[in-house]
Formats: sequence, structure tokens, C-alpha cells
Amino acid sequence: MAMALRWRGCARLVFHRSGSRALHLGPLEQPDSSQAQSQPESKFTNFGFREVPEQEKSKLVGEVFSNVASNYDLMNDLMSGGLHRLWKDRLVSKLAPFPGMQHLDVAGGTGDVAFRVVDAIQKAEQRVPGTTLADADEEDQTRVYVCDINPNMLEVGKKRAKERGLGNAACLVWMEGDAEALTLKDESVDGYTIAFGIRNVTHIDRALKEAYRVLRRGGRFLCLELSHVSTPGFKEMYDAYSFNVIPRMGEVVSGDRASYQYLVESVRKFPNQERFGSMIADAGFKEVEYENLVGGVVAIHSGFKL
Ligand SMILES: C[S@@+](CC[C@H](N)C(=O)[O-])C[C@H]1O[C@@H](n2cnc3c(N)ncnc32)[C@H](O)[C@@H]1O
Repeated sequence: MAMALRWRGCARLVFHRSGSRALHLGPLEQPDSSQAQSQPESKFTNFGFREVPEQEKSKLVGEVFSNVASNYDLMNDLMSGGLHRLWKDRLVSKLAPFPGMQHLDVAGGTGDVAFRVVDAIQKAEQRVPGTTLADADEEDQTRVYVCDINPNMLEVGKKRAKERGLGNAACLVWMEGDAEALTLKDESVDGYTIAFGIRNVTHIDRALKEAYRVLRRGGRFLCLELSHVSTPGFKEMYDAYSFNVIPRMGEVVSGDRASYQYLVESVRKFPNQERFGSMIADAGFKEVEYENLVGGVVAIHSGFKL
């Protein structure tokens, strides 16, 4: 009941399916078909340790997440010993969500980060009387957009939202879409998060430019990602765990060794903390910094659009 009252202004489900890119394409992402036609030979990129034509990566990544969607949350708990929950808590505490916020969680999958953002906003509302969503005009209301390229992951997320009493919450907007070509308008969100997602996109630089485009001035980019461990001793232990235990766990729990083999390989191919930080700065972000957690097993990168 308390939940229903708090979320009175949020009583309608907005489901925005954005498979089409036509809605609000920014200048950065106009598709350039002439260029595609004049360069028939493909460029290559990594898919784990394999080199694949760029245009195939997205399909292969799609297959991975379609395969793992139903066991995704269980596997996250098993692989990280539950630590991913604390890492996501840390990410959202850095974001400092506030009532009325327009937030975009990209590669949002089954909603873990978005639910935390919504919870944090609810808590903030309780602390500041008179700022409930119910009092706000429709336009000013909080929106937490969950964007993911994979409909199977989003379906699991929507089911979880229902279980949390957020099934009809207008403030939670599920969008099928690509991090490299977001359908939100320029300068339309206050915050952008991406957790364990950017490693999977084909062109990281394009995803970063899109993050920059949709953020308002003063808005913050935050990325939680598996990263690089360099401490001698710990690195060897972590590598042994990653390559020997995780794929086997995937095989036992999901009957899918290959997807988890991809996961551990993709982490090794992802740019290290410093390199990724400079990519964020190249996209235009200022005050770029990162925080290592568990010795660099994961890192949270941050940047502001100023
Ligand atoms: C490891 S999951 C992370 C899900 C969630 N953020 C979490 O932390 O639990 C990676 C997600 O990235 C999504 N993804 C991969 N490539 C994407 C892209 N180009 N655009 C948007 N989402 C993408 C996948 O579908 C998948 O749901």
C-alpha cells in the first residue's frame, strides 16, 4: 500500500519499443549508407578471443544473451559470490539519483541497475516531503529508461519489475535499442549508466559518443565493467578462476559453456582502466576518473558532460 501511494504519479506502464532508429536520431548517428556501399570488405573485431567481421559481432552477442537470459541473474550471483550486488549499489550511490531525474541505463538487461535507481529515488522522496512523484506534472516526472538490444533480457526484466510491484510504473520505461544508436533526444537525460554492457558493443567509441549526446550539461556518465587485475599473485588466481571455473559453471547451470567462455575472453580483450578512461575523455567527457573494486576485477569509470 505504501508503495502504491508513493508511486501514485507513476501508475501507467510506458513501453517504448525502439527497434526503429527513426525517432530521434542525433547528428552523430545518421546512418551513412553510401560509405557502407563503397567499402565492401569487412573490418574485423574481437568476439572473445576470435576475430570476426564487425557486422557479425552484434548477432553473436545477441545469441549469447538470448541463451543466458533465463539464468542470467542466478549466474551473476554464483560467478561473483553475490558481489555484483554491492558493485551495482556502489555504481548507483555514485549516481546519487534524485526525484524528477531522467535517467538512462544502457545494456540494462534484467533491470538490476534500474531497480536500484528507482529505489534510491523513492528513498530520496521520503527524505524530502513535498516532492513526491504524485505532485509532479507528467512532463517533470522521474523516468528511468532501461535500454537493451536483447528482447529476451528485457522480458526477464519486465517480469522482475512486476514481481517488485513496478509492473505498471510509468517511471520505468523499457526500450529495445542499441547503445551505438540511441533513440533518445540530444541532452535529454541527467544520468547515464552502463553495467557490464559496454564490453559487448561492437564500436565502443560510438556508444560513448551516444552517451555524450543524450546527456544534459552537468550530466554524469558511469560505467561499471569487468576490468583488468594487475597485482601479481592475485592476477594468476583470478585468471585460473575465470578460465577454469566460470565456463564450467555456465555448462552446469545453463548447459552453455560457450557463452561463459566468451564472457571471460571478452574481459581480457576490453581496454584496461587507463585506456578506457582516455576513450571516455575522447568522447568529450570531463573529470574522467575510475575506481577499482576488488583489485580491478571491476572498475567504475565516471565522466561529466560539462
Ligand atoms: C552482462 S549483461 C548486463 C546486464 C545488466 N546491465 C546487469 O548489470 O546485470 C550485458 C547486456 O548488454 C546488452 N547489450 C549488448 N550489446 C548491446 C548494445 N549494442 N546495445 C545495448 N545493449 C547491448 C546485452 O543484451 C545484455 O543484456
